[in-house]
Amino acid sequence: MNELDTIVEAARAAFGGAETPADLENAKAQFLGKAGRVTGLMKGLAALSIDEKKSRGAAINLAKQAIEAALVARRDALAQAELQDQLRAEALDVSLPGRRRASGGIHPISLSTERIEAIFGSMGFEVAQGPEIETDWFNFTALNTPEDHPARSMHDTFYIEGGAPGAPNLLRTHTSPVQIRHAVQHVKKHRHLIDAGQTMPEIRVIVPGRTYRVDSDATHSPMFHQVEGLWVGENISFKDLKAVYLDFIQSFFETRDLDIRFRPSFFPFTEPSAEIDIMFGTGPLKGRWLEVSGSGQVHPQVIRNMGLDPERYIGFAFGSGIDRLTMLRYGVDDLRLFFDGDMRFLSQFQ
Ligand code: DAH
Repeated sequence: MNELDTIVEAARAAFGGAETPADLENAKAQFLGKAGRVTGLMKGLAALSIDEKKSRGAAINLAKQAIEAALVARRDALAQAELQDQLRAEALDVSLPGRRRASGGIHPISLSTERIEAIFGSMGFEVAQGPEIETDWFNFTALNTPEDHPARSMHDTFYIEGGAPGAPNLLRTHTSPVQIRHAVQHVKKHRHLIDAGQTMPEIRVIVPGRTYRVDSDATHSPMFHQVEGLWVGENISFKDLKAVYLDFIQSFFETRDLDIRFRPSFFPFTEPSAEIDIMFGTGPLKGRWLEVSGSGQVHPQVIRNMGLDPERYIGFAFGSGIDRLTMLRYGVDDLRLFFDGDMRFLSQFQ
């Protein structure tokens, strides 16, 4: 092996032994640097004749090119190795099982409420809301229940500081106050029509929401849910109430094999008043009358408190227990289960 081949081999070996880019640059300097071996050979050319310079120079250049090629190859190899290391370090183990996000469920009372809203919505009822902390006026007086009325004692509730003297604010005992609140807004909006003796668009609304009373056992909870219904126009009768409620209750329970009856009753804000009972023709509750709602024709004084003339406007209202409807629908026998937060119970509704 001649001298040049030996140098090329030595360079290849040195480059091959370099494990890092810095090592490689050091090795390069030994051959191609100012004091490197190839550079030394070039310097030696000065002492040669023209002809010798030509042939020797060409041979040295070949050797130099071989060394440079080896250098580039090693640089590429080191860069590749570094990239591989980096990829390995940053690798994602896609075979690891993911962390599952538990899916929540909708509470059965909310399921019922959504159902009720959808059914009445399909019959052209809007959905309204009102405050849970209510004034004495809206909860009682405006609903024709004056201060000394015995019906108030059935509505023992939680009183709140504030309100009028002798008539503190309270947690509403029913959703009925929203009848007045909603109607007053409705009347205000259509005042110009009413004053001009024209026909006001009918009030057709339901009000689902939380209500409160001092009551607690398997079928009563201090916080419970009602849905109020109100339909007022110029020609709305008990016959409409019966049609609407029957349609609603059969849709709610998804059966036509379900009868309703109206049983005379008393509420201060309706006259006449009735309890609505339902009876299933099949299933575990078959043949028993079950009370699900109060109802009646809106009392003239209540119509007046809405800002309307009872000689012209008439309608019906009802108030049903959402918790009770939900218990019947799902066969739940203790109301408290809805509010205990026990996942074993609640997860059955997903
Ligand atoms: N607010 C009554 C209650 O909670 C239920 C009720 C009865 C509502 C008759 C009505 C109605 O709208 O017309 O006991």
